[in-house]
Amino acid sequence: LELAGVALSAGLSLPAPRVLVAPPRDEETPELHQLEEEWYFDADTSSRLAEEYLGRSASVLLGCPTVARDGARMSKRRLLIDRSVGLISRLRRWGVPAGVIADLRRPVARSRYGEFMVVLADPPWHLQDMLVWLAQASRLCRTGGTIAMPLFGELTKPSAPRERASILRAAEAIGPTYLQPTAVRYRTPRFETEACLASGLSAPVDWRVADLLIINPRAGRQLPAVGPPPAVSERWRTWILGEQVVKLRENTADSGPALGPLAGAINWVLPSVRRRHPDRAQIGLWTSRQRVATVGDTASVARWLDQLAGIGGGSGEHPPAELLALIA
Ligand SMILES: C[S@@+](CC[C@H](N)C(=O)[O-])C[C@H]1O[C@@H](n2cnc3c(N)ncnc32)[C@H](O)[C@@H]1O
Repeated sequence: LELAGVALSAGLSLPAPRVLVAPPRDEETPELHQLEEEWYFDADTSSRLAEEYLGRSASVLLGCPTVARDGARMSKRRLLIDRSVGLISRLRRWGVPAGVIADLRRPVARSRYGEFMVVLADPPWHLQDMLVWLAQASRLCRTGGTIAMPLFGELTKPSAPRERASILRAAEAIGPTYLQPTAVRYRTPRFETEACLASGLSAPVDWRVADLLIINPRAGRQLPAVGPPPAVSERWRTWILGEQVVKLRENTADSGPALGPLAGAINWVLPSVRRRHPDRAQIGLWTSRQRVATVGDTASVARWLDQLAGIGGGSGEHPPAELLALIA
């Protein structure tokens, strides 16, 4: 890490990181990104959920793009709401109609309340997000309809038993609830594989499994909105460079070199997928291969990324070697 820092300050290029993982699966191109919390279902799970939940009734998918993909031919009466920028290109590749790009931490339009018989939601596995999405689901779903949401297992993290109990309490306030144990499986995304390899662990198998929580909403049981709006410091601009998705934090107080090594990174890779990683607030640039850097000159880095993406004709200025190495 120190050597990398010296190389940067001396203006030397970094060694291109070794390619340690298999090339991305076609359906995950452009690559998934940790900042979007993109953990996709395995093929069995997405097709089963599409078959079970996308019938003739109007349905809304909150952050379930693979189910939208598998159900595209089954139902025209379905809406996908998701915030991911990379997903726009993925939907195009899949030949699936675009969804609504929106942040589900903000309240959905009132005009949509009670519009759907089925709400399938797969929020990030964080208590606050899950409660906010559940509240949204309770308002979007019609009385007598169905809400289905994966619920992480008791052993997923130390706080899992306590958080599961809170989520189940919130669900029961909406209506009768049922749990289908271990009904949902996920693929391990490339960013998680890279994080494990960087921290010295072997590439993980597809280990994420969840129960499926099913709720039948009763009349007048919508949950009130909860939680603060998203922080301004968590706004990111996104570029798609080939298969990679690169994010640059907005609203940074620039200082230091244009691109610098992050203290907790190992060979420029963040060795963790924890949202509460202590160094996260220092990350200015973050790629879908989990490579991270601090940014001391946001405007220049944005200009270089524009140039690499072929946006705006280019200024003729060459992006520096360290940026090229980060996205190699
Ligand atoms: C855990 S993944 C679920 C994906 C699902 N398992 C699938 O295979 O289709 C969370 C999804 O929600 C989206 N997402 C994350 N945070 C969001 C937010 N605040 N608002 C809207 N969408 C969000 C992500 O882009 C991602 O598609």
